[in-house]
Amino acid sequence: MLVFEKNNMTDEIEQLVNKYGKSRSSLLPILQDIQRKHKFIPDFAQQEVARLLDIHPVEVYSVITFYSFLNTKPKGRNIIRLCQTITCDLAGKENIAKAIERELGIKFGETTKDNKITLEYVNCLGMCDQGPALLVNERVYSKVTPEKAIQILNEIK
Ligand code: FES
Repeated sequence: MLVFEKNNMTDEIEQLVNKYGKSRSSLLPILQDIQRKHKFIPDFAQQEVARLLDIHPVEVYSVITFYSFLNTKPKGRNIIRLCQTITCDLAGKENIAKAIERELGIKFGETTKDNKITLEYVNCLGMCDQGPALLVNERVYSKVTPEKAIQILNEIK
């Protein structure tokens, strides 16, 4: 079964290499497509991308770890990212974090047991004049209060 899945993954990556081309500049779009489909980039996929692009697996891994939207482990179906950069920190990020953690019973960096929500800190989301800023999946929320954060959670729970 695992071999079958691995073959599928190899086929999938071969198709992506055909789509984007066999060059170093194809690495990021290929990884983004794998991430979009599987929600993370498994070890085997990393090895196959490296093999098919003829680059070192460490290079693939370092690109994944550089970008916060690429993951090596499965995450929750919803990802809540709270800006931890100075302006949002001064605007009350800590109170938002506490309210969210209390509501979900997990800490930032963790995923709920039902795999529904992952909490992460991120750096500046470009909304510094309207902090604290929260990115829920692809949507940015500004001037978030603890009450608004709970309301947002209830909408995705
Ligand atoms: S510091 Fe939080 S959005 Fe810029």
